[in-house]
Amino acid sequence: MRSVSFQELSKDYLTQLVKGAFLTVKNGKTLNTMTIGWGTIGYIWNKPVLMVPVRLQRYTYNLIDKSDSFTVSVPVEKDLKAALKFCGTESGRDVNKFEALGLTAKPAKSVETPIIGECNLHVECRIIYKQLMEPGTLADDIHEKSYPQHDFHVMVYGEILDAYYTD
Ligand SMILES: Cc1cc2nc3c(=O)[nH]c(=O)nc-3n(C[C@H](O)[C@H](O)[C@H](O)COP(=O)(O)O)c2cc1C
Repeated sequence: MRSVSFQELSKDYLTQLVKGAFLTVKNGKTLNTMTIGWGTIGYIWNKPVLMVPVRLQRYTYNLIDKSDSFTVSVPVEKDLKAALKFCGTESGRDVNKFEALGLTAKPAKSVETPIIGECNLHVECRIIYKQLMEPGTLADDIHEKSYPQHDFHVMVYGEILDAYYTD
């Protein structure tokens, strides 16, 4: 395990994010992961923060709403394309994605939500703010392009408690 600086994390995370990463959430005994392709990383409230946009109708959102943590597991230069596709199209409402794909939920260092052992870059976050988009304040072109069904995102902000590479 090797800790990464915020600068290294930002570069590696943003490089991979467009190809997909796994957003994992645990609430009680219920565990789920979904693919994300959007998000931001930066500083706010004097803290390093990772923001993940989760549409309200996602099963993941149900869990995030009741949890106080999430993890993001990133396959850097690892081919997990099929798993990213599966986790980005199937819902945890219908299938246990960890079982279906044989993914390994490994204990995280600082939060209750586990990390995915098959990935090599991990970010552990404490949920510190959630904000449902306000359509009235959104640019019209983005509204039309990204939300024809009015299925807006909840922006979920996580304080980065740990970020590291595993082998
Ligand atoms: C490449 C890719 C990127 C995605 N990015 C996001 C995202 O940033 N936010 C989101 O809400 N859904 C995103 N999705 C869709 C969810 O991953 C998908 O709806 C998933 O099945 C939700 O799972 P759940 O119902 O178990 O939460 C993405 C899907 C793919 C394939």
